[in-house]
Amino acid sequence: MTKLSDEAARRRTFAIISHPDAGKTTVTEKLLLFGGAIQVAGTVKGRKAAAHATSDWMEMEKERGISVTSSVMQFPYKDRVVNLLDTPGHADFSEDTYRVLTAVDSALMVIDVAKGVEERTIKLMEVCRLRDTPIMTFINKLDREGREPMELMDEVEDILKIRCAPITWPIGMGKRFKGVYHLYNESIHLFSASAGSKVSEGEIIQGLDSPRLDELFGDMAAELREEIELIQGASNPFDKDAYLRGELTPVFFGSAINNFGIRELLDDFVEHAPPPQPREAEQRAVEPNEEPLTGFVFKIQANMDPNHRDRIAFMRVCSGHFERGMKLKHVRIGKDVRIANAITFMASDRGNVEDAWPGDIIGLHNHGTIQIGDTFTEGEVLKFTGIPNFAPELFRRVVLRDPLRMKQLQKGIVQLCEEGASQLFRPLNTNDLIVGAVGMLQFDVVAHRLKAEYGVEARFEPVNVATARWVTCDDSKMLGDFRRKAAENLSEDVTGNLTYLAPNRVNLDLTRERWPDVRFMATREH
Ligand code: G4P
Repeated sequence: MTKLSDEAARRRTFAIISHPDAGKTTVTEKLLLFGGAIQVAGTVKGRKAAAHATSDWMEMEKERGISVTSSVMQFPYKDRVVNLLDTPGHADFSEDTYRVLTAVDSALMVIDVAKGVEERTIKLMEVCRLRDTPIMTFINKLDREGREPMELMDEVEDILKIRCAPITWPIGMGKRFKGVYHLYNESIHLFSASAGSKVSEGEIIQGLDSPRLDELFGDMAAELREEIELIQGASNPFDKDAYLRGELTPVFFGSAINNFGIRELLDDFVEHAPPPQPREAEQRAVEPNEEPLTGFVFKIQANMDPNHRDRIAFMRVCSGHFERGMKLKHVRIGKDVRIANAITFMASDRGNVEDAWPGDIIGLHNHGTIQIGDTFTEGEVLKFTGIPNFAPELFRRVVLRDPLRMKQLQKGIVQLCEEGASQLFRPLNTNDLIVGAVGMLQFDVVAHRLKAEYGVEARFEPVNVATARWVTCDDSKMLGDFRRKAAENLSEDVTGNLTYLAPNRVNLDLTRERWPDVRFMATREH
């Protein structure tokens, strides 16, 4: 095995999908704790709180109880290296989440035992299904009363259309929660509510026949043995290939806040979850073990550190070995760039990267030349595919309070829209700036950040646009005609692509009928 294939095989790059409040933040924190990445639990939330103090829009995030930033956390576990990509939970930020999911090899679904399958989980599963992403499931909050485990797994199978294979099984729940039984290791891990800040081992009993079980549980021991026999007969066995094809999800039970059931999950995760997978580019598929470095940008974030005013492009390494100071080809603009100070996200501290391998994420400083979807290589002309841009559903015109701040407004709005959560459209016929978003909250965030980060006071007012379509046509003469005749409804997006802004559906349908050879697309590949 070469160093490259060895390092690639060690990587596990994944994201957590869940409905808000199911426990994503808590699970993240405990995973980091087991990974030795943080010493004391509470750091993840603590970090959030510290960030709030430094910027206004983060303050707003706290008030609303949502997380609008995503980040990357890398930690070692056993002989593996885990990359956990955080996804924003709120529905208004779904586009950002979709794109993060294009950069992972698998996902972990967290479900609240009392609430079962919720609406956000359904949506996120749909996205995972587009690429048949393998999914593991953690059913959380077993320290509270919830639904019967069998009933929950049926619900997952019915609604999410994925087979469930229990790996651990809960013994009781709520006040009677005693622990979990690992169906394959045949070990019982006894529950003890812990403060959550320590990696507590808890007692482990080997084998269902152990007399220790009778000693501890009395009559319940016999019931447990019966129940386990029943479960083993009635549920799907773990089938690794079906898991890797995205058809079956291994299911774990526990209580994240009590740091319980997480170790079982993590042990099996690093064992079974897929290492970096081949990636499709327009030209060909790229294998992680190819020597030349390739990667694509799936996310851009402005002003991560308000003291530095920097913009970071997050690049997933798809193949090869990244070394500091390396020269890379920025394929879209056809230029070579030297990457001197890329950022790593080890243990949530930002530091300079020396090395990165397939599956790793590195942060590139972006001075306005990098866009979401950009590919970097060591010279080959490649374009990775599958990173979508969705047509926004809400539109507003930006109105500036102080007209003299126009320049700052333009700079701010272009930079914020580069992040991809909201999109900027410039009509061909007017000097308006129109912002499109998938959720209302985006406008508040943009207004807030314009003020906090660019010193611009702006507000948003309604505009007569209901939907947007990216426009292309193979016949350049016809496109020219269309551009002239429909100019009133046409604009350019932040990267100069032609877009049709329709006041309503009827108008869009009529325009389509009138121009049958023009293509109107609801998503655009970056
Ligand atoms: P999210 O990121 O998915 O939105 O969920 P988060 O981890 O913030 O958890 C949501 C709430 O559920 C938090 O309570 C958290 O403490 C609680 N929680 C997480 N895991 C468990 C568990 O295993 N058992 C129980 N009983 N609760 C759990 P909160 O009151 O909203 O916040 P906090 O005051 O505890 O920080």
